[in-house]
Amino acid sequence: MRAVTQHRYGGPEVLGLEAVARPVPKPDEVLIEVHAVDIASGDVRVMRGEPKLMRLFFGLRRPRVPTVGRDVAGVVAAVGADVTRFAVGDRVCGETAQGGWAEYAVLPERFAVPIPDGLPFADAATLPVSGGTAVQGLRLAGIDPMGGPGEARPRLLVIGASGGVGGFAVQLASAAGCEVVGVCSPSKSEHVLALGAQRTLDRGTAWPAAEPAGSYDAVFDLGGGQSLGELARLVRRGGTVVLSAGGGDGLLGPIPRLLGATLRNPFTPARLKPLAAGRDTAILEDLLGRLAAGGIRPMIDRVMPLSEAAHAVETYLAGGVRGKLVLAAR
Ligand SMILES: NC(=O)c1ccc[n+]([C@@H]2O[C@H](COP(=O)([O-])OP(=O)(O)OC[C@H]3O[C@@H](n4cnc5c(N)ncnc54)[C@H](OP(=O)(O)O)[C@@H]3O)[C@@H](O)[C@H]2O)c1
Repeated sequence: MRAVTQHRYGGPEVLGLEAVARPVPKPDEVLIEVHAVDIASGDVRVMRGEPKLMRLFFGLRRPRVPTVGRDVAGVVAAVGADVTRFAVGDRVCGETAQGGWAEYAVLPERFAVPIPDGLPFADAATLPVSGGTAVQGLRLAGIDPMGGPGEARPRLLVIGASGGVGGFAVQLASAAGCEVVGVCSPSKSEHVLALGAQRTLDRGTAWPAAEPAGSYDAVFDLGGGQSLGELARLVRRGGTVVLSAGGGDGLLGPIPRLLGATLRNPFTPARLKPLAAGRDTAILEDLLGRLAAGGIRPMIDRVMPLSEAAHAVETYLAGGVRGKLVLAAR
């Protein structure tokens, strides 16, 4: 099969298209003929091997698994001996551990979810990490994104609202009755407003100082550019700041910031909560249903062929993407 591979860490230039052996599913895995696979911020971080701390898990000198990519959508091509819920020909999506930017990928059965009839593979591929993280972040902020609008209208600030996680957070929180403000580049303001935000703040300005203290019930930080003090000032007493941004330095990444939040918590009237989102198939199933029913939008900026993965990552890194970039593997 063809796969996008890298044999060293670095920028898009380390990516190449190679013929490699098709993976063989373990007893509890399904083999997926990949039709679409997402490009997410985490994939690019693994490609670069940054922060360097992550190399302890992904390979010290070079990537242990040469193909990145996690959110796959496609058709079951083979099943392991213990698989009971899926059969060859089923349309499924889910988050693999790695190996997604390829024509075939394996996925443990317990992480695979059926794709509703009629829903395009590319749309489904945008959901597992980005949609799942958005839901888990909103829950941490005390907002139930799966419930209908309640009486209260929580005021939510989403920093990084034009990206994958941020865009789903804006859509889901708006549908749940929140008053959402998004921080983004001015060129992406229209996109964020169309997702349901009431207004946007220009990321390039000194917006935190211009917002009155205590303006929000919750802040979902996906940007990482503001200090913890600045973020805490924005929420009311007892309000929540969800910290999800990867940022930080090239060695330790966000870890010092997340530790700082834990240390700071007893001394601040805001609650600072680091988010570590995990694979959750109940969330994914719910989101796929909403996507199929038109309750949320996939926000696909463009779909590019797998063979153009390096160019797609360059495009992503150039910062012009609204929502999601997806690779088509067939
Ligand atoms: N904790 C977890 O479990 C978890 C899981 C998934 C993702 N994440 C993290 O969540 C963040 C967002 O992920 P994503 O997949 O949504 O990324 P993405 O699709 O690349 O979107 C990020 C968006 O943030 C904006 N941005 C970047 N730097 C910013 C800053 N300093 N201030 C404000 N906005 C900024 C950019 O939009 P503009 O051009 O409009 O500014 C970009 O569209 C990443 O840091 C990622 O590592 C965490």
